[in-house]
Amino acid sequence: MLLSEMNNTQLCKMKDELLQQVNAYGNMKLNLNMTRGKPCKKQLDLTTEVLKDVDIYTNSVDEYGVDCRNYGELYGIKGLRILLAPLVGASEDRIILGGSSSLNMMYDVMMKMVVFGADEHSAPWGTGKKVKFLCPSPGYDRHFAITELLGFDLIPVDMTDSGPDMDQVEALVANDPSVKGIWCIPVYSNPTGVIYSEDTIKRLAWMKTTAEDFRIFCDNAYPVHFLDQYDTLSVNILDECEKAGNPDRTFVFSSTSKITYPGSGIAILASSKRNILSYNKMLSKQTIGPNKMNQLLHLRAFKSFNDILVHMERQAAILRPKFDIVDQILRRELEGLGIAEWTHPTGGYFISFDCMEGCAKRTVEIAKNVGVEFTAAGATYPYGKDPLDRNIRIAPTLPPVEELKTAIQVLCTCVKLAGVEKLLETNH
Ligand SMILES: Cc1ncc(COP(=O)(O)O)c(C=O)c1O
Repeated sequence: MLLSEMNNTQLCKMKDELLQQVNAYGNMKLNLNMTRGKPCKKQLDLTTEVLKDVDIYTNSVDEYGVDCRNYGELYGIKGLRILLAPLVGASEDRIILGGSSSLNMMYDVMMKMVVFGADEHSAPWGTGKKVKFLCPSPGYDRHFAITELLGFDLIPVDMTDSGPDMDQVEALVANDPSVKGIWCIPVYSNPTGVIYSEDTIKRLAWMKTTAEDFRIFCDNAYPVHFLDQYDTLSVNILDECEKAGNPDRTFVFSSTSKITYPGSGIAILASSKRNILSYNKMLSKQTIGPNKMNQLLHLRAFKSFNDILVHMERQAAILRPKFDIVDQILRRELEGLGIAEWTHPTGGYFISFDCMEGCAKRTVEIAKNVGVEFTAAGATYPYGKDPLDRNIRIAPTLPPVEELKTAIQVLCTCVKLAGVEKLLETNH
């Protein structure tokens, strides 16, 4: 029965039962953390199996004669740029390998826009509200945090099943020169799992922007992080931008964080030749070269891109049951009540969960009180403010299956209780 069709007597009875369940969870002294999308121990152990016998010390010279123990090779070693090129969809000469974090590279590119401008003809973006940045929402909180730190005016754009609402995006960029960029996660978007459609990518590449220095920060964090099977996007955003006469519009970022080890992997940046040259020129003042021994380790661990896909298939086998169990519990507990909807991603690290309007904060609060912590409600929106207070990000990857089951059962109880409380409040 729909919760909204229950009368107050039914709602009060349900509330009592739910409070008893909540108390029972409280007595279990749970301490479960569902806040971040991290790989679990089994995934990390898989990677250890791949890396542990790779020898980078007996011979540290790569196939192009570079001694990886020494300074140099600002772009990163060529063999690895070739190997990882499919993650960003660019040829190796348009790729720079960074340290371990792509987020750090995004931050760095953004800072260069702020301080130096997009190119020699453009003024520095500067900081503060005069720069507007488009934030498809729900989206990735750490993206929004970078642009918030710089004081930009963050403009939410609705996410649809095919990517950001392009009518909104086109309208926003068409007449306002202060709209300088957009955050995008084209494959298994965080947190919805959405894959951008061909039409969305083409419109992003071709749209008319008033700001000539408009930039797409395209975060390809999950290109091989399938749950079922590997698939590539039919349109390559860098190629499409070139066709559209906007070759410098897009920076594509990726990393091996969730292929090998987060925090000890390799970050990647790809863009037009011009953007890469100009980035490299500035980078040469920042560093004498990246950690090439780690690059050599990754290069020797995976002989081909297919080896990476085989490794990701083994990771998917660990993650699939976790995503399935979340969906099963949500369906069993919530289907037919009319108080929640959630996504069914085919890859990535998250499930996006929408509850009744005005109930997300309360749901997360009740869960926290009984020892289950979810990502703060609102975190998936700019400034941490979900205008409808509906969205909660579920990150099923880290906990073992039994803990995950408990956490999702707790979530279901809490979301029902928050819904019943809301309805009783509105009925009065
Ligand atoms: C969309 C997205 N981008 C980037 C990152 C972090 O990437 P890295 O470890 O390369 O900094 C994450 C991590 O959760 C993510 O979800």
